[in-house]
Amino acid sequence: MKPFFAATLLLSVAAAYYVYLPLPNTICEPWKLMILDAVFRSFMHMGDLAHDLGLSHHIHVINYFVTKVEVKGPQSSNTVRVTDTSFAGVPARVFEPTTQVKEHHLKRGVVYFHGGGWAMGSGRMRSYDLLCRNMAEELDAVIVSVDYCLAPEAHFPQQYHDALKAATFFLRPEVLVQYSVDPKRVAISGDSAGGNLAAAVVQQMAADNRTATKFKVQALIYPVLQALDFNTPSYQQNGNIPILYRPVMARFWLEYLNGSYSLVPLLLTNNHTALDLTKVPETVRARVDWMHLLQPAFRKDYRRVSPAHGSAQVVEELPALLDVRAAPLLAEDEVLRAVPPAYIMTCEHDVLRDDGLMYAQRLEEAGVAVTRDHYEDGFHGCMVFSSWPAKFSVGTRSMWNYIQWLKENL
Ligand SMILES: *[C@@H]1O[C@H](CO)[C@@H](O)[C@H](O)[C@H]1NC(C)=O
Ligand SMILES: *[C@@H]1O[C@H](CO)[C@@H](O)[C@H](O)[C@H]1NC(C)=O
Ligand SMILES: *[C@@H]1O[C@H](CO)[C@@H](O)[C@H](O)[C@H]1NC(C)=O
Repeated sequence: MKPFFAATLLLSVAAAYYVYLPLPNTICEPWKLMILDAVFRSFMHMGDLAHDLGLSHHIHVINYFVTKVEVKGPQSSNTVRVTDTSFAGVPARVFEPTTQVKEHHLKRGVVYFHGGGWAMGSGRMRSYDLLCRNMAEELDAVIVSVDYCLAPEAHFPQQYHDALKAATFFLRPEVLVQYSVDPKRVAISGDSAGGNLAAAVVQQMAADNRTATKFKVQALIYPVLQALDFNTPSYQQNGNIPILYRPVMARFWLEYLNGSYSLVPLLLTNNHTALDLTKVPETVRARVDWMHLLQPAFRKDYRRVSPAHGSAQVVEELPALLDVRAAPLLAEDEVLRAVPPAYIMTCEHDVLRDDGLMYAQRLEEAGVAVTRDHYEDGFHGCMVFSSWPAKFSVGTRSMWNYIQWLKENL
């Protein structure tokens, strides 16, 4: 028996070593998060291994697991009819409440974009499916969960174009009539990379005076909004906090913009926005200037990282770093003034916290009504972790607060 015990002990120590991660005690349910993170990390490691062996792209490996484990068919319930369809050629899952309040009654509508770094995930995943069902029931709303194309097959601006196409299609008068949706009560929303797409699409539609029907509100859940500064206080503070590590976010950006991973170190040192690079004008720098856009409590005593000399290669190779359709935080004030009222969720333990906070500030300065919903114990992605086996109290809390905001404002 002795070798057995020794082996068990050794394995337990190895497992504990793999799982254990020092986390701030202000984060929600740290032990659960460690286990969730270990599962994610093991998928990532398997993906990287298969990638290095030349078997498959690392994103394909992760998406294979996600699809096998998480994606479910369109299952209607007594209260919500669920259909997989496509909007202007873009796949989408539609959730329609079946409870008829009264005849000719018009429902609310929400266009939703899932997260996953423009590369992973699907609106057909269990977690998003559940979120959209709750929204459909609670809001008496038709929810359109858009499955825009993903990297590595697709790169910017393809994801953005899919998002814009699907949103524009849903707002067509005959489509709204078909779904019995009130044209004055449609929201656009999304989390993480989906929040990026929602913000970019709503800016574009606000500026375009040809679309008669506009979104009434936008709800952005821990959105990613800029790639000029990878050293905001939240990037500095949360670089090693699961589930979105700082280098992973840089890789997602490079995958989206079709840049080489060899640029990761340059992005992480802000080399691409060094002070001697005239390709990044002063007016654009001001739009990500957290020394001005963040409250002192969030700035803490972090220092700005802006090297004197950099490599012009990055912005030359990836001009989309300066494109507002990829980085909505870079929009001009004039564009921001035209966008609808916003709900912005941010989490303290998230590298993207300051992307959201800076956007909230810029929108407010442009005169847009903003509801800030900040979670002191939140971490990136928490809102979709509201059901077994990955159920966090901050997940449930943030999801219902988000739905409540829509109930009161849509
Ligand atoms: C619509 O926008 C275009 C370009 O911004 C502008 O030239 C045109 O005058 C606008 N039309 C209306 C009716 O406002
Ligand atoms: C992405 O980059 C590769 C290599 O640099 C290039 O061959 C390909 O055409 C690019 N794809 C798109 C969609 O721009
Ligand atoms: C930025 O990158 C360039 C090119 O790789 C390098 O020569 C330069 O030293 C870097 N600057 C800093 C501050 O790291």
